[in-house]
Amino acid sequence: PLPEAFKVPLPIPPTKRPIRSDAKADHFRVVQRKASLEILPGLKTEVLGYDGLLPGPTFDTRSGRTTIIEQVNELDVPTVVHLHGGHTPAASDGWPLDLLMPAGGHHGHTGHHGMTGGDVQTGSRMYTYPNTQRAATLWYHDHRMDYTAPQVYRGLFGLHLIRDEEEDRLPLPHGDREVPLVIADRAFAEDGSFRYPARTDGPGVESQYMEGVIGDVILVNGAPWPVLEVDAARYRFRVLNASNARRYELALDRGSAKLVQIGSDGGLLGAPIEHESLVVAPAERFDIVVDFSQYEVGSEITLLNKLDSGRTGEVLRFKVARRAKDDSTVPARLSAYAAVVEPAGVVRRQWRFRRGNTGTHQGWTINGKPFDPQTMQAMVKLDQYEVWSFVTDVHHPVHVHLAPFQVLRRRGKGPGAYDHGWKDTVDVRPAEVVEVLVKFSAHKGKYLIHCHNLEHEDMAMMAGFETV
Ligand code: C2O
Ligand code: CU
Repeated sequence: PLPEAFKVPLPIPPTKRPIRSDAKADHFRVVQRKASLEILPGLKTEVLGYDGLLPGPTFDTRSGRTTIIEQVNELDVPTVVHLHGGHTPAASDGWPLDLLMPAGGHHGHTGHHGMTGGDVQTGSRMYTYPNTQRAATLWYHDHRMDYTAPQVYRGLFGLHLIRDEEEDRLPLPHGDREVPLVIADRAFAEDGSFRYPARTDGPGVESQYMEGVIGDVILVNGAPWPVLEVDAARYRFRVLNASNARRYELALDRGSAKLVQIGSDGGLLGAPIEHESLVVAPAERFDIVVDFSQYEVGSEITLLNKLDSGRTGEVLRFKVARRAKDDSTVPARLSAYAAVVEPAGVVRRQWRFRRGNTGTHQGWTINGKPFDPQTMQAMVKLDQYEVWSFVTDVHHPVHVHLAPFQVLRRRGKGPGAYDHGWKDTVDVRPAEVVEVLVKFSAHKGKYLIHCHNLEHEDMAMMAGFETV
């Protein structure tokens, strides 16, 4: 039986403390380990967690100040860490074959491609994140070739925030009124273990899960349908959809409070946008402000998922506990964000996301090809805008590493309701074309474009490109 909703208080992932700091960098150490957590009341779930947590600890960092993380693998499977949304040198970006092997020497499956071409290290590995980018909500997660989906499903994901002075100056809700909402659906077996339909004869999932793995329990910050007591005041929520494949259409079930979007994947918008509801695809982030001051003390407001009915049609409940002073506001002008104009004569590339043959079984392809770590699908010049078109058969959330982009057009018209600001993941609906303007800078090397439906990604819907 599924747990009763709105009983468990919303947990807040702990902020990771540095082991040391110097003039330029903060140094951290994270241990990837198994832990037995009480996710469903009265049951134990074995997770693979950064520091044994689900979600992992939150990194709270400053723009321009380097974060150096030693990742230690005490699991029994190889791992790869990727900072999603990070402007990261290639050596630390988490190329899917740059494996971190377990300290204990139990290697598990290496995947059907073998390990050729990767920088493989054993026991521990240093990841360097320069954070040379504006304030934004990033996240980190596993990116091991062929096994990203099951490893993220079992717990290998967490938040990495970047702050800067432009954001600090704004009178936005902060402190206890700045709350992360990391939403992820999961399915559980009766004994409390995760139920993930992995194939037994190789990577990927059983064929009926080709479209992606959907769970029947909605976790927020690792707790099922939690409840958050709030003051009758404004709150800032950093929403991340960390689900493997599920989309949500978030909306409040009562009152006239709006979801006021202040930021996207790549940080603050120029000006706030009011939404009645917000469609969030896997890996997307939306920074929103909700004003609870219009509700009576004692009101209960449910955050719904309007894409579904029944239990997965609900996400979280707010209880307005008390009146309180609130000096926060959402200014009409949030940041110096500006829409970039498409330069004349810009380089154009097309990326077609389609079902297809991966060589060994049916899977997913980009431009007709399954992921091949030896072959780059594009050589892209640094410091030069390009227009990339994403073309789909069915629904695919498309993600590009290294640089954010701006959506120019969806179906030939302007950007859609959820396309504003700098983004690194865009939800491309069935049989659609989305065109984005992107420019890479500073780091030469191999990077990825892929579908962030993690089952599609593992079943080869990924391509390498090289910045030159
Ligand atoms: Cu969040 Cu390449 O991934
Ligand atoms: Cu996809």
